[in-house]
Amino acid sequence: MTATACGRQAWRQLIRSTASNLRQQQPLQPRFAFSRQISSTTRSLPSRTATRSPFSLLRQQPFAQRSYSSQGQPPPPRGSNNQVKFWPFLIVIALGSGGYILLVNRRKEMPPTTDQSTPAFSPADVTVLFVLGGPGAGKGTQCARLVRDYHFTHLSAGDLLRAEQDRPGSQYGQLIKDCIKNGAIVPMEVTVALLEKAMREAGSSKFLIDGFPRKMDQALKFEEVVCPARLVLFYDCPEAVMEQRLLERGKTSGRADDNAESIRKRFRTFIETSMPVVDHYETENRVVKVDATPTPDQVYAETQAKLKKVLGDKL
Ligand code: C5P
Ligand code: MG
Repeated sequence: MTATACGRQAWRQLIRSTASNLRQQQPLQPRFAFSRQISSTTRSLPSRTATRSPFSLLRQQPFAQRSYSSQGQPPPPRGSNNQVKFWPFLIVIALGSGGYILLVNRRKEMPPTTDQSTPAFSPADVTVLFVLGGPGAGKGTQCARLVRDYHFTHLSAGDLLRAEQDRPGSQYGQLIKDCIKNGAIVPMEVTVALLEKAMREAGSSKFLIDGFPRKMDQALKFEEVVCPARLVLFYDCPEAVMEQRLLERGKTSGRADDNAESIRKRFRTFIETSMPVVDHYETENRVVKVDATPTPDQVYAETQAKLKKVLGDKL
């Protein structure tokens, strides 16, 4: 499956669940009544027409009227003309109004929706650092050291997605599996929800969010609904070095995406989709860039020095 197919599958899943939510929430009675009525007045039209939206059917009234034309037919009995023309519409209006009143009353009973413009965590209470870098740049290795020395809580988006993929009964398991295999980005709703849940459960005030955001929509959504990030820690590394590391790791990692073909796709996704995120934060002066080519010790020394400078006692 390609990245596009992966995306399409995600959208189909979202659309299906949205549609079923709507089916559960909206009183359908008025619409059914309307289409039943219309189909009875357009019996001479092809059956496909009768299933179209009420609006398209209204536009076709001239056809419907033509089928009731009296040309060449005996005139209808007196008084029946008005009845045929107007009583269906009176019923439709009555049912429509009833449905509307029902909907309004149901809305009143619903709890107020949460204000989505307020993030779940305030940056005054919680420090969030995004950790980015190509696959194999060494994000996980550096995060482990920062956890050891500065008591951050480390949340790896990739690890959370793999855990969700393996969770029995997960409705996103197959979708995540396909995306990871193809180096594609999992739809942001899934990843943002997993991160928010993990942050609530951790109850910490300092987070390293590793491998996230990989796409602009993830960045915007997370900062809007979860927490604005303090900065992006970006590990810069040449592709050849990363490829070597990943192939080495692939010998023992057991990961479905540590193979030559998946690695190539992941690099491409990183350049096309994830680098624009780094560029975005760069324009906001929120990027701390570290050269990830040397040994882990050297990379860590530079990481510490730069973070101390920017974060001070927040580190
Ligand atoms: O970060 P990691 O290399 O573990 O991510 C593995 C895969 O998980 C990515 O290639 C991608 O398919 C998915 N992922 C994602 N969005 C993220 C992080 C990971 O879709 N923010
Ligand atoms: Mg990792």
